[in-house]
Amino acid sequence: MKIIVSTALAVGVIAGPSLAQSAQDGEKIFKKCAACHKVGPDAKNSVGPVLDGVIGRTAGTFENYKYSKSMKAAGAAGLVWSEETVLDYLADPTKYLRTVLDDPRAKAKMKFKLKSENDRRAIIAYLSTFSTATMQVPQDGFCVVNTSEKPHFFTAETREGERVVSNLKPGEQLCSSSTAASDGIVSVFETENGFEGCSRIIPVGQAEEMQKFAEFDRCRWGSHNS
Ligand code: HEC
Repeated sequence: MKIIVSTALAVGVIAGPSLAQSAQDGEKIFKKCAACHKVGPDAKNSVGPVLDGVIGRTAGTFENYKYSKSMKAAGAAGLVWSEETVLDYLADPTKYLRTVLDDPRAKAKMKFKLKSENDRRAIIAYLSTFSTATMQVPQDGFCVVNTSEKPHFFTAETREGERVVSNLKPGEQLCSSSTAASDGIVSVFETENGFEGCSRIIPVGQAEEMQKFAEFDRCRWGSHNS
């Protein structure tokens, strides 16, 4: 029986060489975004929202960020950030929101455009390394990623009762793995001494995002099949 505890950031290990290469290019090009956006374990909202886990996230929903009306409307209308939607958005945010909302008065709060399609693709490859949608999950285990804005206390327990615990900062992950390859249950508490938390059953080979903590099992989750 082996248990793996990993608090390292998911990196694009399953990506092929070309994708890994563009993720590297994307890291450099991301400097253009970094004036307004943060990524990684200690990321905080600044001019723009934190972009950890943005691929796979509903538009306009990162915790405690004040989005424009148009962005909130786009999320409410069902806009989810994927490689394709981010690709179009970055080329011209206002034009994109106008098209999505079919409203010529829609306005993006992001005053920045990235013309080069190659640069946009590279940045998306880079952003994907901060998302469970592209994360490597052990075949015989399951993972949880803290994509909320605050650190929280996480436990992951397999059906056989193997338990791993960790305080996860935003962007960090906890994976459990056992030779029995079973699904398991993840519980989250506000802090290590928290009393009422929330929990979720996670199938083997999959990862879940804990997007927002709330007591009495009211956390917001987002999952991706890998
Ligand atoms: C000058 C500041 C600025 C720069 C530079 C900038 N952004 Fe933004 N970005 C924002 C703001 C502000 C928002 C919130 C938009 C809204 O509410 O309409 C945003 C929103 C976003 C969103 C939607 C996030 C969500 O949670 O719905 C994505 C994706 C995004 N930006 C990606 C990027 C990328 C990638 C780059 C670099 C190519 C970039 N941005 C450069 C300010 C910026």
